[in-house]
Amino acid sequence: EEIEKGGFDHFMLKEIYEQPRAILDTYRGRLLAKEGIIRMAGIDQNMEKFLNANRIIIVACGTSWHAGLVAEYIFEDLARIPVEVEYASEFRYRNPVVTENDVLIAISQSGETADTLAAIKLAKEKGAFVFGVCNVVGSSIARETDAGAYTHAGPEIGVASTKAFTTQITVLTLLALKLAKAKGVFNSTRFHEYLTELEQIPAKVERALLTNPLVEIIAKVYKDSPNCLYLGRGYNFPVALEGALKLKEISYIHAEGYPAAEMKHGPIALIDEHMPVVVIATSKGHYEKIVSNIQEIKSRKGKIIAVVTEGDVQVRELADHVIEVPETLENLTPLLTTIPLQLLSYHIAVMRGCNVDQPRNLAKSVTVE
Ligand code: G6P
Repeated sequence: EEIEKGGFDHFMLKEIYEQPRAILDTYRGRLLAKEGIIRMAGIDQNMEKFLNANRIIIVACGTSWHAGLVAEYIFEDLARIPVEVEYASEFRYRNPVVTENDVLIAISQSGETADTLAAIKLAKEKGAFVFGVCNVVGSSIARETDAGAYTHAGPEIGVASTKAFTTQITVLTLLALKLAKAKGVFNSTRFHEYLTELEQIPAKVERALLTNPLVEIIAKVYKDSPNCLYLGRGYNFPVALEGALKLKEISYIHAEGYPAAEMKHGPIALIDEHMPVVVIATSKGHYEKIVSNIQEIKSRKGKIIAVVTEGDVQVRELADHVIEVPETLENLTPLLTTIPLQLLSYHIAVMRGCNVDQPRNLAKSVTVE
């Protein structure tokens, strides 16, 4: 096992560090920037299904559901296709309206999650075309779906998902870009801009990983907090949810993720000088709005840990701690902003003496209801 950990103390940390490679492996051979094409057999062979779809329904659980939320924003923004994201466990039991004109995308690292599998079967019965995004080759979900695209993250051992999340977003981004191009929403210049930026992502994730020593220092300050709030807007809202999920999964600290603007409808009541608030405040996407949210937290004496874009000035003046990640296109920011949040939960869990790779009560894949 020590050999498998490759010199890291835990699988989770190893997997966090594998992300530049995992993302690269996921788009390698698919993204051909020079030729200006994205090649994905499962999509190319079924393009008509996607182009004629009334809407896309995404079903997933846990971290994969968060990747689905990011995908919703990307699909609607780039490809102008209506998307709904559902917890598989709710979808399967609520008598949903599904027709043969719908495309269902199931996202699952393991490909074995019982609720997601059952949601697929239901959608197929109703005639929908079902596309899978799985990491485990030959898994039940990969076999049950009509077509799909694998993430090439490699085996994920840590129960708390990390590299599966970023590679799922990578695959779904490629899919959205293909659809945007095929629908004519994207001209080739814009398409090319995305392809070249995607090629920069592994190096930028590498740079985001350099925040590790700083994140460890911040973790030390907040490791004994009983609660933590995570806020983000737009593309960083699902990142806030995922950051909170990571913290509660492995450190057992109660954490909540919220859309930053929604804070005033509840969580703001919790803010005092004891409440750490992680705010994702990158330069693109509602920056001024999030700065004003940060001011609201500060005036209530909350402790602000901000994830910002390199070179940020405004948030730095307000926050107690700033963690910088490289700049990228707005749609791709989750691939970078999620990195320091994974590291933060990791270090806090280690400092609290928790079993990081095998947290209590959790399973890597939930194959029962
Ligand atoms: C479990 C795991 C999570 C994972 C979720 C969905 O809860 O602990 O890390 O996100 O299942 O799993 P899946 O394999 O379907 O992505």
